Amino acid sequence: MKNILVTGGAGFIGSAFVRHMVAAYPEYNIICYDKLTYAGNLDNLLPVSDEENYQFERGDVADRLTVERVLKRYAIDTIVNFAAESHVDRSILDPDAFIHTDVVGAYILLDEGKKLGIGRFCQVSTDEVYGDIDDGESAEDDRFLPNSPYAASKAGGELMARAYAVTYGMDTVITRGSNTYGPYQYPEKLIPFFTTEAIDDRPLPLYGDGKQIRDWLYVDDHARGVDRVLHDGVSGEAYNLAGENQRYNVEVTRRILEILGKPASLVRHVPDREGHDRRYAMTAAKARALGWKPQFDFDVGLQATVNWYLENEWWWRKIKKGEFLDFYRQQYAERLATSES
Ligand code: NAD
Ligand code: DAU
Repeated sequence: MKNILVTGGAGFIGSAFVRHMVAAYPEYNIICYDKLTYAGNLDNLLPVSDEENYQFERGDVADRLTVERVLKRYAIDTIVNFAAESHVDRSILDPDAFIHTDVVGAYILLDEGKKLGIGRFCQVSTDEVYGDIDDGESAEDDRFLPNSPYAASKAGGELMARAYAVTYGMDTVITRGSNTYGPYQYPEKLIPFFTTEAIDDRPLPLYGDGKQIRDWLYVDDHARGVDRVLHDGVSGEAYNLAGENQRYNVEVTRRILEILGKPASLVRHVPDREGHDRRYAMTAAKARALGWKPQFDFDVGLQATVNWYLENEWWWRKIKKGEFLDFYRQQYAERLATSES
């Protein structure tokens, strides 16, 4: 392993992984390949932009010619695929881009990687492929029951990685992370959205009864988990990266308001997300056996995250304009008009 292509490396978790790898492995060359969609942001990579073992190439993972050119130009031997459309609500509004990037993009990367005989391919997937878990915890061999177009597109991408391992003997590993939070997360996702809205005393649209459960994983723990699986995972296997911090959405919301010293009256119960999964939960025993475990307790991680958004308005204020406002109107205007506090 020497020349590692990190696709989607200008996004939230991909950029944390790039920052981690550039610092931890000076002997590797880290090449970030990213289309820079609304969610891609070169500000996330400013901490490494002058490092000698880091390069950036703009491109689409579903664009075969550009992928081939970049793989050859940098003699890539390893691919870590973070590139995705990642927001469930956007997938409900329009699934098209999700099929393009999460399914076709994964396939093109695998296929070009196979042709050029690369070594390891790590597909970054999600706990959402297992679907809604009433009780207990999903293990890696459990069946897939994805419920949103996003979850189904992620299942398609990782099943393609599995097929390339079984059929062509490609060296693939898969990670399935749980809900991730931390600095540099695009403010459409629950924690950064509610934090930045509450800072501005704006309403927080909590879907349905707010009793859905998510398992929260700090972003640096997620990045270290992908590193562990990339280096030590068994070829052809998948690994759950669970935060082991299950919380109701309503609890997370209350805690954000407490940290910011804002009133509970900002919360609005709005009509639910369509097909909304009530609970995700996974066992991380298999990744723990590789030596990984989440290090951040949720209360510590949430406090650090909220502080980061308080201290880095330069980062998020310029994002919450233009495209973000179009999405906000589409997603929330009608919901908030019929909301209750
Ligand atoms: P993100 O939306 O913040 O970033 C996605 C990145 O992919 C952006 O930089 C974007 O520009 C890039 N991208 C999108 N389409 C592309 C294309 N066609 N070609 C090249 N680049 C493209 O996403 P994230 O939250 O950082 O998630 C990263 C990965 O981790 C995704 O695969 C996601 O499914 C997975 N994941 C996310 C979470 C979470 O809670 N955020 C949890 C588990 C797994
Ligand atoms: O579980 C892993 C997944 O976590 C990742 O694969 C996805 O990329 C990531 O976006 C995330 O999906 P969720 O749908 O769980 O995350 P989101 O932040 O959108 O929502 C978290 C919970 O909060 C969910 O139950 C919906 C609820 N929610 C979210 C928003 C944005 C609200 O109640 N109101 C909101 O406005």
